[in-house]
Parts: sequence; structure tokens; C-alpha cells
Amino acid sequence: MNSCKKSFILLYILSIGISTSYAQQQSIPQKVQALLNKMTLAEKIGQLNQYNGDWEATGPVSTDVGNKLDAVKRGEVGSILNIVGVKHTRVFQEAAMKSRLKIPLLFGQDVIHGYSVTFPIPLAEAASWDMAAIEKSARIAATEAAAGGVHWTFAPMVDIARDPRWGRVMEGAGEDPYLGSLIATARVHGFQGKGLGNLDAVMACAKHFTAYGAAIGGRDYNSVDMSIRTLWEIYLPPFKAALDAGAATFMNSFNDLNGTPATANHYLQQNILKDKWGFKGFVVSDWGSIGEMINHGYVNDNYEAAEAAINAGNDMDMESRSYINNLAKLVAYKKVSVTRIDEAVGRILTKKFELRLFDDPYRFCNAEREKRVLNTPEHVEAARDIARKSIVLLKNEHQVLPLSKNLNTIALIGPLVKSKKEMKGFWAQNVGNEDEVVSLYEGMQQAAGKTKLLYAKGCDITDTSRTDFNEAYKTAMQADVIVMAMGERFDMTGEAKSRSNIHLPGVQEELIKAVVASGKPVIVLLMAGRPMVFNWTADHAPAILYTWWLGNQAGNAIADVLYGKYNPAAKLPITFPRAEGQIPIYYNHLNTGRPAKSDTDVFYTSAYTDLPNSPRFAFGYGLSYTTFKYSNLHLSKKSMLKSEDVTVSFDLQNTGKYAGEEVAQFYLRDLVSQPLRPVKELKGFEKVMLQPGETKSVSFTIDKEKLAFYNDELERITQPGTFRLMIGGASDNIQLQDDFELTN
Ligand code: GLC
Repeated sequence: MNSCKKSFILLYILSIGISTSYAQQQSIPQKVQALLNKMTLAEKIGQLNQYNGDWEATGPVSTDVGNKLDAVKRGEVGSILNIVGVKHTRVFQEAAMKSRLKIPLLFGQDVIHGYSVTFPIPLAEAASWDMAAIEKSARIAATEAAAGGVHWTFAPMVDIARDPRWGRVMEGAGEDPYLGSLIATARVHGFQGKGLGNLDAVMACAKHFTAYGAAIGGRDYNSVDMSIRTLWEIYLPPFKAALDAGAATFMNSFNDLNGTPATANHYLQQNILKDKWGFKGFVVSDWGSIGEMINHGYVNDNYEAAEAAINAGNDMDMESRSYINNLAKLVAYKKVSVTRIDEAVGRILTKKFELRLFDDPYRFCNAEREKRVLNTPEHVEAARDIARKSIVLLKNEHQVLPLSKNLNTIALIGPLVKSKKEMKGFWAQNVGNEDEVVSLYEGMQQAAGKTKLLYAKGCDITDTSRTDFNEAYKTAMQADVIVMAMGERFDMTGEAKSRSNIHLPGVQEELIKAVVASGKPVIVLLMAGRPMVFNWTADHAPAILYTWWLGNQAGNAIADVLYGKYNPAAKLPITFPRAEGQIPIYYNHLNTGRPAKSDTDVFYTSAYTDLPNSPRFAFGYGLSYTTFKYSNLHLSKKSMLKSEDVTVSFDLQNTGKYAGEEVAQFYLRDLVSQPLRPVKELKGFEKVMLQPGETKSVSFTIDKEKLAFYNDELERITQPGTFRLMIGGASDNIQLQDDFELTN
């Protein structure tokens, strides 16, 4: 071979080496730009298009796209949701590798509370007020989901919810912005772990942006009408927390906000999220929400819908086909700029590079890892631990609980005693199998030792038949103690599950009455995804535990609490109304010009004449098997400048005979302000473990941020004046109180 040819080959090899090492040294923005430069407009639009994988539809399915694998090969798809398992994601990724530019797909899934091991529903976990446990739950869910081929979970749902008629209360963290923001942070950190690119990290998705939980009447998908100040004070903080925690994506919401659908809401998606907050990830629509703007009456057709959504900051189209069918025309007619298309595509490609899918599109499709990582004993134990921590003790008269191991006979009565499916709750993945769920009955069999267990179903969940009441009563009469498992079917609370009547369903409360009439000690377990109304039970049952839907380890966790292996410490993250007519009812309300001074003070005051004004159970409420005493409140100073802070300290003592944890809550009230401020706002809490008799000093710091609020111009301000601090074990159980001044 002549020297010329040799030097050419040498040069060529050298050039490949240089370009490869240059490519590896390129930053992600450079790689994204280099790829964009190669893409046709059609390929760019394909990246903005997301289809459902048809394994399990989580929205209204349209079957008008033919074979989705072929669409992927043609480069018309950027992401697929609802594909379960590495075997199937590999097939779709292989199809993507057959497209011209081999851009990998993103696989998304609603991993809301666990993947293979189902954890308690998010509202239950919120009741733990335990950020480490909540983060660990999300961490395990992400680890399992990533092993199962998932790149992206559509969670955390961070919608503030004040209306338990809305079925999706189960999916969030309740009514409070402070608690909701901490939980949003914990969940994003849990899902994303040490960062995208790690094989156990998935992209988080803060949803639904925004104010979806304020739907009128608690009716899912309905309109939201609120002041922009309320939006900033109550509904936006958890989203800002999720963004600050590094949430890779946001999902918008089905509702309109003050007449503009969230999907086309430039103020929300562009002004706030991308411009003011500097969000660098991407926004995905909710399922079909772009096309649904036709139903809203906001646009005439999908062409206008696509224009409105993309120009308002919505980057990816989940399942409406509006983008794939119309963006090219919109660009041609200069309704949408190529710059905006490139911006949206660039945000999505950036995440694919961060996930290192261009290095290896199959890096999350490892069958061996999937088998090894799912459903490990550590994951199962973690599920049991947070399930225990989520159980709220609402009542325990005469110390009926904890149960003694020396009881001769316990009767387990109710439609949920042996149920497994219900324990998983709504939005549970169908990855694990049902026999991995521990029912209450199985949990009690494990824990009861020599105690004999009797069982009677008594009634169904919603059926109105009373034919089995008699058998239940007879069973109760044979027992020393009765444990009743009552509540909802797993699918009575969740998406599209709004209910006007949230009473304990069917004839269950009549069955409780019949069993309580036995005169035996009755412990009622209430299992649901939302606050229910159960006034007779609340007034007459000696002991009540709200166990929500606790996931795979429900039975073991409940047994742990019933036998005192774990002393319940959970606190309600949402107010429980006495009746649907009280809704909306929440703790951080304004005082009004005629506040009722008590539940009976109804004349010329803002109160109902037909029921007490207070809720059935207040935000932050929850009992323990022990008792706590709050004392020795001390403020480092009684007045502060904006530039200073005040340290608040007090003593907390366990005055009972069981070791236990107390969530000491810290509330503030700005006594005089313009505009008005709520009668109290949660500004801090501390979960404190105390041995019997033990006392610990607890402290909180008050700084300017804790006193700040938005004025009508949406400026974050403070106003000089008197502030009241309130400390206690619930929003309606203030044990210590004092005032201090902000002097400038
Ligand atoms: C659903 C939900 C959303 C979910 C999405 C994909 O309609 O509103 O929370 O992530 O569709 O399943």
C-alpha cells in the first residue's frame, strides 16, 4: 500500500478518534443542538408526541393510530406510557433504533405509591409526617420501576386538596401548603435519587399544574375559580418545592383556571414555571388535555388546540394527537415558530441525554436486574414500616388498645377483613401479584399467638343486604374483643371517583351499631382513600384506627399497631368533615367578621344552625397509646426586626406508660394584616420520640419568611404587628401560646 493511502487511512482513523472524543467531551446542550441540526421538522414533532402502550389505559383510548411500533420506527413518537416490564420496553426501544436518527424512547408510568411492592397511598404516607420514610418509599418505588424498564414516573402528585368529595385526594399530601411542600421535596428526592443517569433513578413529574384539587364541587376535571393570591399562597408552593428539589418534568392539569385551561395557560406554564422559576425540564400534557380544549370551548379544533398549547409552554402531547397531526401545518402558516418547536424538543432530548439513553438505549431493559431488584425483603419491610407510621389513632376510650396477647378470642368482622385488592388502593401497579398482599386476617393470624380468631363478614362494602348481621352478632358474642374492618372498595376513591356522599358506604355503619350493641369492646378499622363521614361510629365505637389503604403490608402493619408493637403517631393531613354540607372545610381559614366562638354560638355568626361548626377530626389530629405534656414555652425575644429571628422553645414530656412519638406542631397567626391572613398556618413541626417519663426540649425558629405573605400585587411582604404562635398536637389542640411583635 503506497504511503499516500497509508497516510489517508491514518488521517481518517485519527479524525474518527478526534470526533469520537470530541463527541464524548461535548456538553449535553452541544449534543442536543448537534442532534437538532440533523432533525427534520417531522422528526422534531415526533419527539413531542406520546402514545399509550395499551397495556393498561389510564385515560380515554383512541385507536386511530394503527400499529404504534411502526409509528415509532417512522420517528413519530418520543415517548410511550403504560408499558410494563423490560421485555416489552425493549421491543419498543428496538423499534426506535430502526428510526433514521435512532432517538431512544422515554417510557413513562404512574408509579404513584410503589411498583412491585405496593406502598400506602400517598395521603396515608402524608399522615406519617415522616419525610425520611416518605422519601424512602419513593426511593424503593423508583428502584423497582427503573429495574422494570421505567424512565419516568408521573409522580409526585402535589395538588393541595381541601375537598374530600374529590376522589384524587388519595393521591396527594392533603390540605396544607407547608406539609405538602416538604412531602413534594421528599418524593422528588426519592424518585430521582442521586440523579438522572443512575440505574435506580427515574424522572419525577410534579403534577397537576395547577390547582386541579380546587375543582368546583370536588367534581374531577371541573373548573377552578380562585384569586391569583390564593393560587400563590396555597396551590403553588408544593410545585415550587418540587421544582427546587429538581423535578425533571411537570404535568399540566385538566381544569381551566379562571377561564383558561391549564394546558393553554401561558401565565402558568411560561410566565411562572419557565420564566420566573427557571424550569429547565419539560411539560407534558395530561392525557388528552390538549384535545379536550375543544370540549372546554376554548378552541374550535385540534389545530387551534395544538397552537394554543405549544405557544403556552406545553412541550409534549400525551395521547391527543394534536401535535403530530397539526404542528407541521402550524409552522408552515407561521402560527408556531421553529424556535418554539426546537425549544420544546431540546428540553425533551436533554432529559434523554441525562438519562444516558443515547449511550445505551437498553440500559433500563435488563431482565436479570428486573428479577433481582423487585419485591426484595428489604422493600417489603420498608412498606410495613411506613404503613405502620401512616395509621391514625382517632379514638381509644378506656385504653381498649393495644390488645393483650392473653385474650382468648378475637372476632374479626367486616367486609374488608380478608380483602387483599382493597389494601392496594387506587393507582396501584399490576406488577406484583395479589397474594403478596397481607390481608388483615392474615396479619392477625401471624400476630395473635394463642388467641383464637373468629371471622364473620357481616355485610358487603356497598350492598344493602343485612342478612349476615345476625351471624356477625353471634360471632361477636363469642369473643372478648371485636376488630371490625370497614370502609371503601379500592376503586371508590381515585381518578374520576368524585362522590357527593362520602359516608361509610352501604349498611356498614348499621353493622357497627349491631356489633357495638353486643357490649363488647369494639375496635373499628376504617379503610379508605379519602376522609369518610362516620358520625355514629365516631360517637359510639370505643376505638377507631384510620388505616387508609396501606398497600402490600396492610395486615401486618395493622396488627403491629393493634398489639402495640408500634405505637401509632400519625396525624391527619386533611380535615375530616362532619357532613358533606360542611365542605369545603379546612383549618387555615380566615376569621370573618362574625366568627363563631363555639359550636353552639350560631346566632349572627358564621356557623351552621344544624350541626357543630368544628370538623369531625381536625387537620393535624391523631392520638397515641401514651400522652404528652407541653410546657415551659420560651421566646428568645418578644419582638423582632425583619432582619432578625426569634427562637421558640418548649418542653415536651411523655406522661404515659408507652414509648411513643408526638408530632409537635407549630402554627402562626398574623393578628392584623392587609389583606387578611388565616386564623392559623402550619409553619413547622417536629416528630419527637419519647420514652415514658422522658422530657425533651423542642425548638422552632421564626424568621421573616415564616411571617411573609403575598399582597394583592403578588409581592412577598411582611407587615409590622403582633403575631401569635401556637403549639400543640393538632390544629385544634393548642397547648402553648404566646404573642410577639414584628417591629418593622
Ligand atoms: C391520567 C391522570 C394523570 C396520569 C396520566 C397518565 O388521566 O390524570 O395523573 O399521570 O393520565 O396515566
